[in-house]
Amino acid sequence: MAIVLGIETSCDETSVAIVRDRQVLSNIVSSQIEIHQQYGGVVPEIASRRHVEMVNWAIEQAMQEATLTWKEIDGIAATCAPGLVGALLVGVTAGKTLSLLHEKPFLGVHHLEGHIYASYLSEPSLQPPFLCLLVSGGHTSLIYVKACGHYETLGQTRDDAAGEAFDKVARLLNLGYPGGPVIDRLSKEGNSRAFPLPEGQVSLPEGGFHPYDSSFSGLKTAVLRLTQKLQQETDTLPIPDLAASFQDTVARALTKRTIACALNYGLNAIAIGGGVAANSSLRHHLQAAAHTHNLNVYFPPLKFCTDNAAMIACAAAEHLDRGHTSSLQLGVQSRMPISDVMKLYEVS
Ligand code: KG4
Ligand code: ZN
Repeated sequence: MAIVLGIETSCDETSVAIVRDRQVLSNIVSSQIEIHQQYGGVVPEIASRRHVEMVNWAIEQAMQEATLTWKEIDGIAATCAPGLVGALLVGVTAGKTLSLLHEKPFLGVHHLEGHIYASYLSEPSLQPPFLCLLVSGGHTSLIYVKACGHYETLGQTRDDAAGEAFDKVARLLNLGYPGGPVIDRLSKEGNSRAFPLPEGQVSLPEGGFHPYDSSFSGLKTAVLRLTQKLQQETDTLPIPDLAASFQDTVARALTKRTIACALNYGLNAIAIGGGVAANSSLRHHLQAAAHTHNLNVYFPPLKFCTDNAAMIACAAAEHLDRGHTSSLQLGVQSRMPISDVMKLYEVS
């Protein structure tokens, strides 16, 4: 059971954690949300600079909280793809430096594999195969989890990610950034059936619709058009009704595709990951549909849904146990399909 120190700096959270197998010994997360809020989204240059300022502090805190010495650490991991290149470089450079300094193996981790491993942190008995619905600000994917390092993407978004759609709709309703939490909160006071909106199905050239892919940009445009129309008709926009109708449409669309995918592939467990997993409507619809079809659905606690280093260290710990390590020449990549995870490792 390897003890791994993991570093996550792919976007706007500087996080360092220490994990033994699937048990979290420490998980320090320093969020930059307040810094980026004034710009209405993440500014990559500012994110990188803030990671540089915070990463050493986070490493020290994680070591202190875990009450371990460097001798007891078996490996050092850092998210190396996908993400903001400058931001990833900070974590990977810190990880490689620690690896050289303390003579520990280094492991680069795919950010999405990390999100999959977040489910193991709260559900240590979960075992592949299962289906993972990954819904964050940058991703909307249905991933067939076959084994450690072996994944197949069965569905994805053709344009905006689910979280991105929440953020863009919040911006057009002047609700601030990030959009998901505020839309979720306002939806509780609104009527989700007030405005029918398109579910964002992806047409196939041969006719019909792709069963697992999504497209959220049409939905966002539909909310924009509706808002413009309502603005001409009334002085005050029915914000809670708009928020609830939008949120419910996204939640129903994701639920429909996820359940169809699990049933068609004969997978009876579904794990949810990414920041949008916090969404109350998505939780409600998925739990109800899973119950109807006798499927198990796992939502990690919020602290493991959003970006954190515990999930990165957890993925690395299993790779290390299997003899997988990365070269110190490993670079960072802004994009990388999850099916390429094993390219990050040399297998001993
Ligand atoms: O996974 P995450 O922390 O960062 C990455 O994008 O990797 O996800 C952030 C996204 C944002 O787009 C945010 O608006 C969304 O997750 N989000 C939510 C909720 N909480 C966060 N979306 C819907 N409902 C929520 N309660
Ligand atoms: Zn993420």
